[in-house]
Amino acid sequence: MNHHTPAIELIDVHKIFHSKTTTTHALADVHLQMKEGEVACLIGPSGSGKSTCLRTINGLETITRGAIKLFGTPYSSASTAHALRRDTAMIFQRFELFPHLTALENVALAPRLREPISKADALERASELLSSVGLSAHRDKFPRMLSGGQQQRVAIARALAVRPRILLCDEPTSALDPELVDEVLELLKAIAKGGMTMVVVTHEMRFARQVSQTCHFFDGGRVVESGATQTLLDRPQTPRLQAFLSSLQGTHRR
Ligand SMILES: Nc1ncnc2c1ncn2[C@@H]1O[C@H](COP(=O)(O)OP(=O)(O)O)[C@@H](O)[C@H]1O
Ligand SMILES: [Mg+2]
Repeated sequence: MNHHTPAIELIDVHKIFHSKTTTTHALADVHLQMKEGEVACLIGPSGSGKSTCLRTINGLETITRGAIKLFGTPYSSASTAHALRRDTAMIFQRFELFPHLTALENVALAPRLREPISKADALERASELLSSVGLSAHRDKFPRMLSGGQQQRVAIARALAVRPRILLCDEPTSALDPELVDEVLELLKAIAKGGMTMVVVTHEMRFARQVSQTCHFFDGGRVVESGATQTLLDRPQTPRLQAFLSSLQGTHRR
């Protein structure tokens, strides 16, 4: 890969969900490009395709049409998909930790599912990561004994434990009490500063401004507007983005 190869490239991506009664065009005509080390935010109303977009990037969802490339390699067969999925890790709104495992065990399990690593090495890596997210003192606690902010920091440590090249975050703070949001955003900011390529679905525009270089506005499965974060948020060009941003103002004073 030369340094001009995008870290992430979506080319004319379409995703259609079929059920017995309905057909949903969850993604239509999506073109996105991200450089290595770039942080991009995906914004837009509920149901606009943001999560589906993240899920296609990490291969959890196949696409109906188009192509997705990570570092120049397309998801073209089961074997490339398997290899590409190893480049990514995801953080979810609801943490998705195993309730019967301690913080340390949750973090140590992730790499063991992906690479030939001994249990001792995985535990050592997990222990270092938990200390880097400020949770050394809580390593032997179960998720239910931790606050939402702490659980999400464990989930972030778990995502980093597989040493991903791309970190995908799906509304990482929307399940948190307001006073716990900042500890998670600060941690994500530090990871971004460290050079990680990140795609973050968020409603936190203050965070988007602080960490992302680019922003993509989804509506109805399409990327309606893309651009440099500052410009996009300060001077939205389309009535739809203008309406979306003013709808946020009432609820999130960020
Ligand atoms: N597994 C699925 N089966 C059927 N429809 C789905 C599925 N996942 C998402 N959708 C639909 O696709 C559209 C986009 O959903 P989603 O990507 O979750 O939006 P967002 O994350 O922006 O809220 C919605 O209409 C949603 O109902
Ligand atoms: Mg979503």
